[in-house]
Order: sequence, then structure tokens, then C-alpha cells
Amino acid sequence: MKFLSATAAALALAAPLLAPAQTVQLTVQPGDPKLIVSKHIQGQFAEHLGRCIYDGFWVDEKMNVPKQGRIRLDVVEALKKIHVPNLRWPGGCFADTYHWHDGVGPAAQRPKMLNLWWGNTLEDNSFGTHEFLGLCGLLGTEPYLAANVGSGTVQEMSNWMEYLNSNEDTPMVQERKKNGHPEPYQVSWWGIGNESWGCGGNMTAQYYTDVYKRYATFAHDYPGTKLKRIVSGANGDDANWTETCMKNIPLNQMWGLTLHQYTLPTGSWSGSKGKATGFGEDQYFSTLRNCLRMDAIVAKHAAIMDKYDKDKKVALLVDEWGVWTDVEPGTNPGHLYQQNTLRDALVAGTTLNIFNNHCDRVKGANLAQAVNVLQAVILTDKEKMLLTPTYHVFDLYQVHQDAEYLPLQFASPDYAFGNEKIPALNASASKDKNGAVHISLVNLDPKNALTIETALPGVSWKTVTGRVLTSASVSDHNTFDQPNTVRLADFKGARKKGNGLAVMLPAKSVVVLELK
Ligand code: AHR
Repeated sequence: MKFLSATAAALALAAPLLAPAQTVQLTVQPGDPKLIVSKHIQGQFAEHLGRCIYDGFWVDEKMNVPKQGRIRLDVVEALKKIHVPNLRWPGGCFADTYHWHDGVGPAAQRPKMLNLWWGNTLEDNSFGTHEFLGLCGLLGTEPYLAANVGSGTVQEMSNWMEYLNSNEDTPMVQERKKNGHPEPYQVSWWGIGNESWGCGGNMTAQYYTDVYKRYATFAHDYPGTKLKRIVSGANGDDANWTETCMKNIPLNQMWGLTLHQYTLPTGSWSGSKGKATGFGEDQYFSTLRNCLRMDAIVAKHAAIMDKYDKDKKVALLVDEWGVWTDVEPGTNPGHLYQQNTLRDALVAGTTLNIFNNHCDRVKGANLAQAVNVLQAVILTDKEKMLLTPTYHVFDLYQVHQDAEYLPLQFASPDYAFGNEKIPALNASASKDKNGAVHISLVNLDPKNALTIETALPGVSWKTVTGRVLTSASVSDHNTFDQPNTVRLADFKGARKKGNGLAVMLPAKSVVVLELK
């Protein structure tokens, strides 16, 4: 079945009317007020890659869009609406090639550099530390810096920390003041390397943990800024990496440990990764099946961490995740520019549900990436800008930020394709500071709606409202000419039924309900 054909789309829409929707019994259980869904699960990632920084956030002085300096304010305004809690920079693989000192001081005097990882693009270093922290200030977001371990020195990283966080009369601080920022920036989130098993130095786990301890020793706290030192963690389900880090690094030297897990439609890094648009049901299904692996992978790393850290003091940060497809035809393969469909939105809703449901250990995550790269929430083309389906999911899910986690109980019907099947339904719930309960529901089945009968023991509520993201085809996406093909709508399919809640969840949809 080709999802783009008009017949298929019509069938997909009509099917819920033909087949009676399966009924799911779902219970929202009471939470533990101490267990919070960290807002940092909804973090974003901005690497010097393709058109994320240059020609994304940071544009030509002559570009006719609202700007502060060269920062694009329409992009900033859109991101402010989804309350981005933290922004990771400058990479990614780029981080282990980046020398921060080349990116401070008068822009005209900054040396150029070749971005060797990403398309050999020549960069002029006009976007550096001050510009990034200025962007974070505009966004009201926590900066999350990645220090260069692969090709930098301990001294270089240590100087960066002193430059940003100290207030003593040292040469580093004098230089920061000369560069226009008298007060310390107080940057507390520091990744010590990135993918040190790969582009960050091709290290073994044992070797990296020794290197990490050396760097962490010289990552100093300055008055007013206690560092969150973050260990470069595993690739996918590499249990040995996590085990070695947890065993070798003292708990008081690490605030967090990362995990990178991408969703490739074909599941293969060699050859085609799969299409971003115009895919068939085979790649629709395989993408969602691959995305659901996140649950088992997080559970595996969390179980290892539990052995060494029973009190769950160390955060698991999935600081790179998202769909990775082939690039858009005609674009630089090293710039990772891809379109974003309703399928990406279903992946985003599912993944954020998985993180919410592991919020006892997952305290942060970063979608790769914010603008114009991989599963971006925003795409730009010169002056034009669009919000992707994935953006709308972050808009829907922001109600979970720092809310009390509410566990759910249900048995999902299957969505079957060929000889394989996956659970059609995934969900998570939380209660915010005002007592409103939010339930996020994702139906991965492209043809069949679901009826959900929900019991909420212990919750007193009078009204239910909601918003829905769906479209005629799972391959639908927003273009610069038609930027609102996939957009949010009010959801009318939920009503009070006795003490419970009855929901008609459309096929291929993300719905977030609010009960007050
Ligand atoms: O997000 C793109 C790249 O994917 C990052 O630079 C790297 O860390 C990962 O392999």
C-alpha cells in the first residue's frame, strides 16, 4: 500500500467507519508526588551541522526577517512557545573538533574553520559562545555545552569553564569582560565529550572512563555554579559501555550519563536509511517498530545503572534521538536535511511517552535537531519558515513539563503488518501543579481508530478538553507553500461517562487530553 496514493489515503480515512473500533480499558493510577516528569526530557539540540546554526538560527545580516543581531527571531518566537527547557551545543561530532577560543572576541578577527564532520563546510566562527548564550537568553533555556575531549585538551576545557563561570580577576575573566559580559554566565550543564566510542575519539569504554575522570577532575565548580558533569554514554543497546562507566566512574564525579539512539526506517546505517516522505506501509511500520525499541533500550541501561546507583542519583540523558532518513534529493548529504511527516510526529509522541514512563531515571533528552537537521521541529528556506508535525507534538506535550508522573495500566491491541505486529497504543500521563491531569495518547495504527474507556480512581474532574494531531496520510508534511497541511485541531472525541472517560482515538493520531 503506497501511503501517498489518493485511494490509499481515502481508505485509511474511511476504515474507522467500516470496522468497529477495538476497546481498550485504561486506568490512570495515583502518582507519587516525588516522581516528576522532568521538563528537560523536552530538550533540543543545535549542532554546527548543515543549516542548523548558520542559515538556521544565525542568518545573513541582509536577510529580511526580524532579527536580534543575526539571531532569527521568528525561529526564537516559535521555540519560546514550546518552552524549550535546554539546548545542547555545539555538537554532536562537531563538539570534538571545536576550539571555543576561536569563537570569542571581535568577529572579524576570528579564524575560519572547516567543519570536517559535516560536509567540509567553511565556517567563520561568527557564531560562538557569546552568541549561543545570547540565543539561550532569548529562548529562556538552559545551555547544555559539550566540551571537546577528542581533539581538545583538559586545559582548554578548564579555561572555557573559568571564562564562563568565574568572577575572579584572572586573564580568562578579564577576557570575558572585554568581550562584553561582565557577569559570570553560570553554565552548569557540561557534557564531557560526545560519542567517545565513535566520532569523539574511537575510544574503548575502559579508556574513556580514565580520560573522563581526568577531565572531570579539572571541571571546577565556581561560586554560584555547581557543575552537572555528564558522561558520554552508550550507542544504542551497548550495555558494556554503560556498565564500564557506572563501574569505573565514582558517582560523585557524574551527574548524568548519556545515551544516543536514532530511529532509521530501514534500520541500516549502510545504504539507504529510508525515505523521509512518500514511503510505503512497509517503511511506516518498520520506522515505528524501530522507534519502539527505545523502551527496551532505556530499560536495559536503567537496570545497569540501578546496580551501581540504587538511589537513582545519576540521570540518564538521551541527548540524541529522532528519525534519521535519507536527505532531501539535491541537498548536501553531509547536511542531513530531511522532511518531516505525520510519521515523525507519531515517533515523537511515542518516544516522549517512553521517556515520561521512565522518568524515574530519564531526566533529560534532546531531539536531533532543532532547525533544518534530521527530525527538526523547524525548517527554513531563506525568509520562509515552517513548523513541522514534530513541533506540534512538543507543543502538545509541554503540559507534562515538571508535572507529577501518573502511571497508566492498559493492554494495547496490535497493529499488524505482514507477519509482524507492534502495540497500536502508547500513552503517558501526569498531573500539573494546578491539579489538572494530562493524558497523551498515540495510535500508531494507520487505519483503525481505538475506543478507550478510562478509569481514574482518585482523580476528581469535571471537564475534558483536548487537541489532536492527525492528517489524511501518514506521509503528509508541511511545505513552504503549504505550511499548515499537518496542524493541531481541537479534539472532540472525549467525554465523561459515569466516573470515567470515553475516548474515540482516531487512527494515526496524537491526542493530549486535559481533565480539570
Ligand atoms: O545528530 C547528528 C550526529 O549524530 C551527531 O553529531 C553525532 O553525535 C551523532 O552521531
